[in-house]
Amino acid sequence: MIQLHDLFFEKFISKTQINQAVNGVAVKINNDYKDKAPVFLIVLNGAFFFGADIIKKFNGDCEMSFIKVASYEGTQSTGNVSTVMGVDPSLKGRDVVIIEDIVDSGNTIEAILKILKQEGVKSYKIATMFYKPLAFTKTYKVDYVGMEIANDFIVGYGLDYNGLGRNLDTIYKLKPQKMKNIVLFGPPGAGKGTQADYLKVKYNLIHISTGDVFRYNIKNKTELGILAKSYMDNGDLVPDEVTIDMLKAEVDKNTDAKGFVFDGFPRTNFQAAALDAFLAKKGEGVNGMVALEVNEDLLVARLLKRGETSGRSDDQDESKIRNRFNEYETKTAVLKDYYQDQNKYFGVDGVGSVEDITERLCKVIDKL
Ligand code: IMP
Ligand code: MG
Repeated sequence: MIQLHDLFFEKFISKTQINQAVNGVAVKINNDYKDKAPVFLIVLNGAFFFGADIIKKFNGDCEMSFIKVASYEGTQSTGNVSTVMGVDPSLKGRDVVIIEDIVDSGNTIEAILKILKQEGVKSYKIATMFYKPLAFTKTYKVDYVGMEIANDFIVGYGLDYNGLGRNLDTIYKLKPQKMKNIVLFGPPGAGKGTQADYLKVKYNLIHISTGDVFRYNIKNKTELGILAKSYMDNGDLVPDEVTIDMLKAEVDKNTDAKGFVFDGFPRTNFQAAALDAFLAKKGEGVNGMVALEVNEDLLVARLLKRGETSGRSDDQDESKIRNRFNEYETKTAVLKDYYQDQNKYFGVDGVGSVEDITERLCKVIDKL
């Protein structure tokens, strides 16, 4: 297994299989073009390995040219193809073989065909190393195919994920994440604990509440518990290292878990990065941060009410509650940016009945 950026990939197609596929295409192209002095038009960047291999195996006269277009962002085809670099004007009247790394939706080649027709080529054919027939939406014929694959996202032999992986000499495919890991987020009193109780049942997840983990340790007067208590009593956050180690231990206790609902963690960018790194070692990651959005005054009222019955000292004093909000705003809200940068932030309206809010949360979590 390898990691590129935030994603994990597993071995899929060997070097030998790649060579066999390339040879198969090269033989056919040799047969069809050996007396035609074709122009091989390599689609950059991905097809440069395949193009080089095909051209080295070509026995007659030939020339080569390059075109650069872009349609992919991350692991998704955008459907919009933009030409970054045009072809030589010398294609007029020539027999052109387009060399592509992979044909997926077919948008890229379609855009190139338009250009070739404008250029007035004599003929063209399409050669691709990989072809995803299930994703292909066009009607034109793909003439030479090295290998057909299912709708997996692959890297290696020129193919990339956001710039990385092109240099791999075997093909790797995206490894599906097995766990569903949700960071449940929101200011104190937003109802995270209540919602987590529903979510853990519905999605068969382990609920890790930092608050509960701390309270357990405090109640049992563990070393960490006594330390944590001194911070919590002042409405301050417990230092990152302590929190992270406690949370890691909780995760590792549950080796068969289908995933986790993290409630009250991470609270800082440092913790979030530590969680990413920790999960990444297991080939897993955070699927999304789901945040309950509730305004502050409503929350202060809720918390004071909870303080009347819960006996939690930090819920009984309005200034301490407001202090927790300040902490939340200044330190924790930056996490929104952390997850937003990864397209993993999902805000949910946290005002309404418990059931309504659960429903809103599930709508988001179902898709993660
Ligand atoms: P299409 O325009 O949807 O046919 O996509 C073709 C282009 O998308 C290729 O030239 C690649 O740059 C990129 N692409 C499609 N599928 C993959 C993949 O599985 N891995 C890496 N890039 C891909
Ligand atoms: Mg490409």
